[in-house]
Amino acid sequence: DKNDRESLYFAFDLISQFYHYLIKNEKFGNLGLTYLLNRGFTKEIIQKFNIGYAVDSWDTLTHFLQRRKIDLALMEKVGILSKRQFDHKYFDRFRNRIMFPIANHRGKVVSFAGRVLTDEKPKYINTPESEIFHKGNLLFGFHLARQEIKRTNQVILFEGYLDVIKAHQCGVTNCVASMGTSLTETQASLLTRHAETIIICYDSDDAGIEASFRAAAILGKEQHIIKIAKVPNGLDPDDYMTKFGGEKFSSDVIGASQTVMSFKMNYFRRGRDLNDEGDRMRYVEEVIKEIATLTKAVERDHYLRMLSDEFSISLDALKHQQYQIYRQRQ
Ligand code: GTP
Ligand code: MN
Ligand code: MN
Ligand code: MN
Ligand code: MN
Repeated sequence: DKNDRESLYFAFDLISQFYHYLIKNEKFGNLGLTYLLNRGFTKEIIQKFNIGYAVDSWDTLTHFLQRRKIDLALMEKVGILSKRQFDHKYFDRFRNRIMFPIANHRGKVVSFAGRVLTDEKPKYINTPESEIFHKGNLLFGFHLARQEIKRTNQVILFEGYLDVIKAHQCGVTNCVASMGTSLTETQASLLTRHAETIIICYDSDDAGIEASFRAAAILGKEQHIIKIAKVPNGLDPDDYMTKFGGEKFSSDVIGASQTVMSFKMNYFRRGRDLNDEGDRMRYVEEVIKEIATLTKAVERDHYLRMLSDEFSISLDALKHQQYQIYRQRQ
């Protein structure tokens, strides 16, 4: 109920301030701060996103919450604390992790993600869903991006928290991240409600590319411009901006984003030798199948013509083949 929600907002806010206080404290927070500085994050951006550090201890947060008279059972329920089996004592669930507060669209902290400082697994631990946190309804960074999304009528969709944070540091502020899982319908409609152009900029590994296609399919149901941007050399957006800065990211990565179909056409070329007749025909077939999934006749026509021009295949033949694909599907 309302009281529960208010106490959760209160507690999450308090906890985010505590973790943030720790990362700024020379004695306790050095490991966390050094980690972030080494990755090119500034003190200013740590402040802006209220990033924190959970020290390597079993009871630092627990004691703090106790002193502040916070309901520890409630904190266990929402995944901030854990409970020992044998004596039912509470202890800190997040230890030796960088703490990212996750705010809802009004800017209230509703969840945390904690990242390890090493290559250990799991890389991130999150607090679970609760009365105030439904991860499928939330886009990370939305409350800080809203104005710039409106001004540019464009939003960049990243995979990771750190991509969003580094982008802000580099002056690119019309960006959000889906919450680690695949994009939901609710998140998609949030994006399409606020901007005409949505640029998907996921990691350029295979998982990221596959996920871009799924996100594009969900976003593409409405009358919007959906584009995919590819970060070169297997870097993710955060790495790229650390190396090359925000201006180059905007001009060379976002500026070079392609419509979903053009992106797919390039993608299907991978590993094919288009001078080889067999490869060429398989490629054309793949693309026709993809074009057949488009709902707008004008778009289908546009891409079929592109194919027709590029491979000197008559438009009639391409349309005939597409017609056969439709028949097979029925
Ligand atoms: P860094 O490796 O620190 O640069 O983070 P990243 O954001 O680049 O991570 P990655 O590309 O591997 O994952 C993208 C997003 O998926 C993260 O920001 C998380 O939201 C989510 N994610 C990745 N790994 C895990 C995990 O082990 N557990 C959970 N719950 N989420 C994860
Ligand atoms: Mn909301
Ligand atoms: Mn990834
Ligand atoms: Mn990544
Ligand atoms: Mn990364």
